[in-house]
Amino acid sequence: MTNGWEESASAWIATQADGGDLARRLILDAPMLERARLHGTGDVLDVGCGEGRFCRLLASEGASVVGIDPAGSLIREARRLHPDGDYRVVGAEALPFADATFDLVVAYLSLIDIADLKAAVAEMHRVLRPGGHLLIANHNGFFSASNPSGWRSTPEGTRAFVIDHYMDERSDWVGWSGIRVLNWHRPLSTYMSLLLATGLQLRHFEEPLARGGHPEMAALQRRVPAFLVMEWEKPSPAGMV
Ligand SMILES: C[S@@+](CC[C@H](N)C(=O)[O-])C[C@H]1O[C@@H](n2cnc3c(N)ncnc32)[C@H](O)[C@@H]1O
Repeated sequence: MTNGWEESASAWIATQADGGDLARRLILDAPMLERARLHGTGDVLDVGCGEGRFCRLLASEGASVVGIDPAGSLIREARRLHPDGDYRVVGAEALPFADATFDLVVAYLSLIDIADLKAAVAEMHRVLRPGGHLLIANHNGFFSASNPSGWRSTPEGTRAFVIDHYMDERSDWVGWSGIRVLNWHRPLSTYMSLLLATGLQLRHFEEPLARGGHPEMAALQRRVPAFLVMEWEKPSPAGMV
């Protein structure tokens, strides 16, 4: 079954022109880049790289980046925009890389799109080097528990955000700007349990808010933070430096 990404590719590419959409430019890029820079970028895998914007950013900072995505049209665009880059049409559930290949694995708003999260987490852990980091930007579970309705107007003329069935994992079709894709809602405990079970150790967690931009957007983010950023480290075996 399609998840809508191939069909939505051209609309998605349009939203990422000029340096990314507002959420990326105002909320997520800063913490994602700060964490990536902390470790030196090295060999990086971007899982669900889309049209490759974050790969290009990391490559411009000296990283050696591979981007993977199952949507062929997005990978074609990534190759067009970055002809020297390494982009492959493949899903996160079966990564075509040897164990311990990467210093940094990035999942930038792609875990919400992946149906088999358990397989993807196991693969991302497998291809990380000991001492390497998994950097995740994802929808906050409180936010995705509102799918597909989100903000609503109340009869009193105010705006309310409806969260329901938080503990029930599910997928919903969501749409914006000509894009229509299947997004997964999962409670935070689903993500944490799968990541902890691999032996990864949580090193950083934040619910980033807008840095700059329209005050109304910043105020909505304070009412309902849409995102979270987590960084996990793959421990080195005892005695290994
Ligand atoms: C919201 S977009 C994010 C793209 C990019 N990371 C960015 O931030 O611009 C989600 C991406 O996840 C990809 N995706 C969907 N299913 C996937 C899977 N099974 N494995 C890896 N990526 C997947 C989609 O094709 C899409 O490009």
